Amino acid sequence: MSEEQKHLTRFRGEVSRRDREEFCGHRSAVLWFTGLSGSGKSTIAHGVEKRLHDAGMRSYVFDGDNVRHGLCSDLSFSPAARTENIRRIAEVSKLFAENSTICMCAFISPLMSDREMAREIIGDDDFYEIFVTCPLSVCEARDVKGYYKLAREGKIKNYTGISAPYEAPDNPDLLVDTDVETLEESIDKVFGFILEKVRL
Ligand code: ADX
Repeated sequence: MSEEQKHLTRFRGEVSRRDREEFCGHRSAVLWFTGLSGSGKSTIAHGVEKRLHDAGMRSYVFDGDNVRHGLCSDLSFSPAARTENIRRIAEVSKLFAENSTICMCAFISPLMSDREMAREIIGDDDFYEIFVTCPLSVCEARDVKGYYKLAREGKIKNYTGISAPYEAPDNPDLLVDTDVETLEESIDKVFGFILEKVRL
C-alpha cells in the first residue's frame, strides 16, 4: 500500500449484498473455469449463462479473449502479465458478486499460484474451481482459432501447452471432461452444480 493509499476509508452503504441477493432470489458465486485453450471453457460458460438467464438468474461471463480486448488489452502472455490478468478479473468478479451476479470466469489461468490468488481475492465461500480437462492432442486437433498451428511454427511465443506450462488443478470443485462429454452434458453438469451453490 502506498503513502497515498493509506488515506482511504471504506464507505458502507445501506444496501447489503444479502439485500441484493434476496432481490435477485439467489446467492452469487464465482465459477472459475481453468483449462487449455480449446478445451471448451468459454463455450460451456456461455451455454450455462444462457441457461441461467432463461431461468431468471443474473449471470455474466468473463473470458480471456474478450477481456484482453479491453480491461486487459495492455497485457501480454508473460508469466507476470498473466498474473495481472487473473488479479484484475478476480477483483472485478468480486465486485460483480457483491451485486448478486453469478460470475463465470473462463481463463486458461495456467498456474496454480495464480488460481490460488484468485481464490484469496474472491474468498473461499464464493470461489469454485472448475477444471475443463481435455488432452492437449485433442485441443490441438480442434485448433478452433488456428493458434496451436502458429505456436508450433514458433509464430506465437509462450503458448500454453506448447511453449508455456499448464498446471492442472489437484482437487477442483468440479471436473468437466470435454473429450468424453457432449457439450450439453457439460452444460447440464455445471448448471446443476451452480443451482446447488446459489440457493438462498
Ligand atoms: S491466461 O493464461 O492469461 O489465463 P487468457 O485465458 O486470458 O490466458 O487468454 C487465452 C487466450 O488468448 C487463448 O484462448 C488464445 O486465444 C489467446 N492467446 C494468444 N496468445 C496466447 C498464448 N501465448 N498463450 C495462451 N493463449 C494465447
